[in-house]
Amino acid sequence: MAQLQNDRFLRACRKQKVDRTPIWIMRQAGRYLPEYRAVRAKSDFLTMCKTPELVAEVTLQPIDILGTDAAIIFSDILVIPEAMGMFLEMNEGVGPVFPKPIRNENDFNELKDADPSKDLKYVIDAVELTKKELNGRVPLIGFSGAPWTLLTYMVEGKGSKNFSEVKKLIYNNPKLAHKILDKISDSVINYLNAKIEAGVDAVQIFDTWGGILSQDDFDEFSLQYITKIIAGLKRKDQPVIVFAKGVHSKLRRLAKCGADVLGLDWTMDINKVRERVGDRVALQGNLDPTILYGTQDFIKSRVKKTLEAYGKGSGHIFNLGHGILPDVNPENAIALVKFVHEESKKYH
Ligand code: CP3
Repeated sequence: MAQLQNDRFLRACRKQKVDRTPIWIMRQAGRYLPEYRAVRAKSDFLTMCKTPELVAEVTLQPIDILGTDAAIIFSDILVIPEAMGMFLEMNEGVGPVFPKPIRNENDFNELKDADPSKDLKYVIDAVELTKKELNGRVPLIGFSGAPWTLLTYMVEGKGSKNFSEVKKLIYNNPKLAHKILDKISDSVINYLNAKIEAGVDAVQIFDTWGGILSQDDFDEFSLQYITKIIAGLKRKDQPVIVFAKGVHSKLRRLAKCGADVLGLDWTMDINKVRERVGDRVALQGNLDPTILYGTQDFIKSRVKKTLEAYGKGSGHIFNLGHGILPDVNPENAIALVKFVHEESKKYH
């Protein structure tokens, strides 16, 4: 495999010395880019995910256009429930839908363990092709949803405001909830191990809905499964990033789950988080994604503020606090990457 030409991202994950703060952007391959929309116009989202040539093409777009320091394989967290046997629809304007959600023991019995070498072979093929096409320019990140976030989609069947169905399940039938979470965790472990074997340089676990749980419930229904997954990874030196959105007071516990890096949303104070857990983990984040609606001068001032808040030394990977929004001007995303590279020199 080609030698990495830019390993800033991996070095920062390991808190090794870097020349500048690395940056990548969650959802960097997405609809804000006209080049993405051109590919997407010719095929639906799931077909794109299942066609390795298209995955490689859109995964490389932000590297060419923005110059980010890492690529993230283009896919979706919901390919796991699909590989476990659920029918997934991606509806234009509505988002993902599972027409037959998991609500009881019978539904659970129909779930199977995802076999990455069969059910998710298209992702593994896409990782191999993308690594080849990247040719060592930047590291490639593989990802998965956290079991809790996957459970919310599998039980709700679609996006939700109050998460009533998944809350009914965990409070009325915690035993069944744990059985499903366990089964998801096993599939996620096998999936991430297959991606690592196929060549990804780091993995990120997205717990987008961790923040809807009370702190004790987060421990019970989310954190223990994230911890189990990380312990089950067969990795050499590939860092693990955990992005749990809206999880504030359990950061110290989260920092002990085995992750090398914690991803922070924009409501957190990166300076305070560094004081609390910066001796254990590197930090990723955490500019408010809507800052990119501002002028470039404004974006620059907020970049400076975030860099200053983290302070001197390695262990910071710049990112947004959640995914980039589809109506952001790509010029502003290009400027963001440039500002981070320029303004961060003095911190290293
Ligand atoms: O970061 C990257 O560039 C890699 C690609 C990526 C996508 N989804 C592509 C995508 C990643 C890492 C994800 C993760 C994901 N998917 C999460 C966790 C992160 C987060 O944003 O909270 C979640 C919750 C999902 C589920 C999902 N997929 C939703 C809710 C939606 C619809 C909402 C939306 O943003 O459109 C998707 C579809 C989706 N996944 C799109 C993309 C680029 C848009 C599809 C399109 O092109 O029409």
